[in-house]
Amino acid sequence: MSLTVPASMTARKIATDGLDATAWPMPDLAYTPEVAAATAHLYERVKHVVPPVEWPFHAPYVAAINRLKKERDAVILAHNYQTPEIYNCVADVVGDSLQLAKLAARSTARIIVQGGVHFMAETSKLLNPDKMVLIPDLKAGCSLASSITGADIRRLREAYPGVPVVAYVNTSAEVKAEVDICCTSANAVQVVESLGVDRVLFVPDQYLAKYVASKTKVQIISWHGACEVHERFTGEELRRYREADPSIRIIAHPECPPDVIAEADFTGSTAGMIDYATAQKGGKVLLVTECSMADNVAASARDVEFVRPCNLCPHMKRITLPKILDSLLTLRHQVEIPEELALRARRSVERMINLQH
Ligand code: 13P
Ligand code: SF4
Repeated sequence: MSLTVPASMTARKIATDGLDATAWPMPDLAYTPEVAAATAHLYERVKHVVPPVEWPFHAPYVAAINRLKKERDAVILAHNYQTPEIYNCVADVVGDSLQLAKLAARSTARIIVQGGVHFMAETSKLLNPDKMVLIPDLKAGCSLASSITGADIRRLREAYPGVPVVAYVNTSAEVKAEVDICCTSANAVQVVESLGVDRVLFVPDQYLAKYVASKTKVQIISWHGACEVHERFTGEELRRYREADPSIRIIAHPECPPDVIAEADFTGSTAGMIDYATAQKGGKVLLVTECSMADNVAASARDVEFVRPCNLCPHMKRITLPKILDSLLTLRHQVEIPEELALRARRSVERMINLQH
């Protein structure tokens, strides 16, 4: 699995008070021989995707972030869609939404910096109410999370009395507070079936809902949300790749439309896709997902040739090394969730996490 836990994550009571943002001046960001030497082993990890001419721009940030992370007692959680220099050079923990949620629950650092989008930072805060959770760019949203509100869930409950509501983790804390349980793309079928009912409301991703419906007898009533990245892929483009090379293995994220899933040899969460791709011994793999995944997974699957009909997630790409550094220096932007709302939202996330045991 594409998941690492820093050795520093041992059980220990932490406090977030006493953090002095003003005490941290901007470090020198020159690409000196010392910085080059200190980051050389990290460049080795990304040299297949980061040209030598670009490294002098990244390296001073990488060195400063890694130094500041220790001084601040911070941990960086990075989603699989983060850029290679974040994913490989400053992240302490990488993974899909489910892995990040579980590892956020285990973190003992004083500060969590979320390399990902806002709903992921909210999930980390729900599971770490006493810690400081930072999102380096407040505008790092998600088209799925913004497609539905808490009021929408209350209206759905009125329209379908007694039908439990499952929310994809790609939702706001306000929505999580109104639903019965959360799920991720890695456990959606398991979560739906765990409820022991004939039908469920499944929000907000219409395509993940269709995928789940194809895998279970439980009737799925879905919302009309969609991921702006995955909905752009088409079955037609995948068929053209397959015609050009019939041996190609196509792997797709379940946020893709059904005609895309129908062409895929494997469908799964981003972590599931990485596991499947790295298990291939040679050959060509077509990754139907966000662009950075192929760059990141290519590092651990050198014998596989990746074909990348990728779409960029503009929200994930708002997180950059300079913004992560700024976050650590200034302790901005802190994720806060009103306690009453957090109590109810946390219950939905914890219900999902407890299912895994
Ligand atoms: P995963 O949980 O599979 O990583 O998906 C999160 C996401 O936002 C995909 O678009
Ligand atoms: Fe949201 Fe899609 Fe971006 Fe994932 S890839 S964060 S689902 S917009």
